[in-house]
Amino acid sequence: MKRINFLFVFVLAFALILSACSSSGGSDKGTANKGNDKDSNSTSKEVTIVWAHGKDTTGADQKAVEAFEAAHPNIHVKVQEMPNDTGQQHDAYVTAFNAKSSSIDVINMDVIWPAEFAQAGYTLPLDRFIQQDNVDLSQYNQGALSAAQFNGKQWAMPLYVDAGLLFYRKDIVKEPPKTWDELIADAKKYQGKNGTKYGIVFQAKQYEGLVCNAVEYVTGYGGKFIDKDNNVVVNSPETIKGLNKMKEIATSKFVPDNITTFTEPETETAFIEGQAVFARNWPYLWASSNDKEKSKVVGKVGVAPLPSGDNGSASALGGWMMGINKYSKHPKEAWEFVKFMTGVEGEKIEAINGGKAPTINSLYQDEEVLNANPFFKEKGFQDAIANATSRPVAPNYQEISNIIQIHVSKLLAGQESSEQAVANMEKEMKAAQK
Ligand code: GLC
Repeated sequence: MKRINFLFVFVLAFALILSACSSSGGSDKGTANKGNDKDSNSTSKEVTIVWAHGKDTTGADQKAVEAFEAAHPNIHVKVQEMPNDTGQQHDAYVTAFNAKSSSIDVINMDVIWPAEFAQAGYTLPLDRFIQQDNVDLSQYNQGALSAAQFNGKQWAMPLYVDAGLLFYRKDIVKEPPKTWDELIADAKKYQGKNGTKYGIVFQAKQYEGLVCNAVEYVTGYGGKFIDKDNNVVVNSPETIKGLNKMKEIATSKFVPDNITTFTEPETETAFIEGQAVFARNWPYLWASSNDKEKSKVVGKVGVAPLPSGDNGSASALGGWMMGINKYSKHPKEAWEFVKFMTGVEGEKIEAINGGKAPTINSLYQDEEVLNANPFFKEKGFQDAIANATSRPVAPNYQEISNIIQIHVSKLLAGQESSEQAVANMEKEMKAAQK
């Protein structure tokens, strides 16, 4: 028996050496990759990889997985559904990765995580794979691409880009409002028309989406939380004005009484059920509100840039990328999947079926993509994406975000004035930077 084992090991080692020599770039194999080559180089071996991401209400992810599996019969993709709330999803990954778990191979990463995940060493740098497969990075939206870079390395590939948009009922509103004050007037005027209950719905729960909404009001009125040189600049009359407008809307009679429990799914449900005249959400709401199987407002939906404050219209920059767990046992297969999903084919499926805005620039000229999402052609949308406001970029972003979440929530609940909220944020953000 011993001899057979020895022979087997010898043959396997020989096969591994051969395959290593034949693969391009074989001189630069990362340790995380070494033990898995026997899986990926065998043509008959079937491998199942696990892709973790938040709930996809559009069904696009499933279609993309089917297309990938059809093209890669040896690789199966099992979806692991994670909490939809990006903060909770983040915490679940941190727990898994701190425990060096290999149970997840590929993750979707929010644009606000790469700096932290790279510094903690949770995901694999993808540069070697990108070079080996000659992936052309110049075809991507450079903002989305660079959001996944840290310390000169590419830690994830951009899958889709998000920017806050105003969805409205075309059967009720002729011209979408240009300013937040016009929106307030329209919301009051049209609330109750054509079966609606609310003027506007948006994300006011204490979580990451609240930060995105706050960024939009604050930037629209010329304020900021932290500037690009990392100075805390939150305590300004402009920020106060933006927050006051947010509070005025969140505490008005034209929003649901429980607006402070609203995240994206509650916003989506209210809008597609026909309950709201306006909704602030990400581009995917277009696909979902025009889905005949679940929406009551198919064909009645318009999309516009968010209303302006004194300083113009501002959309928060969001979006998701795909990264590979450093402890994955199948990094090569994981990469094949990431490459597919973030390539033309995968992004096209996501755009057509899920209304996700591609990060590959040429897809904005693709007829099928534009037929499915006519507003991708509009200048208002393109400007929103091009000028979207980033949240502060920092490895301790979660801490900064929590500070914003707490004080904006207290403001909306009437427990702090906006003057107190910005003073408290300033103090706590400065302390977090020390
Ligand atoms: C969307 C955005 C993401 C953001 C999140 C907040 O998923 O793409 O960047 O953090 O919403 O809820």
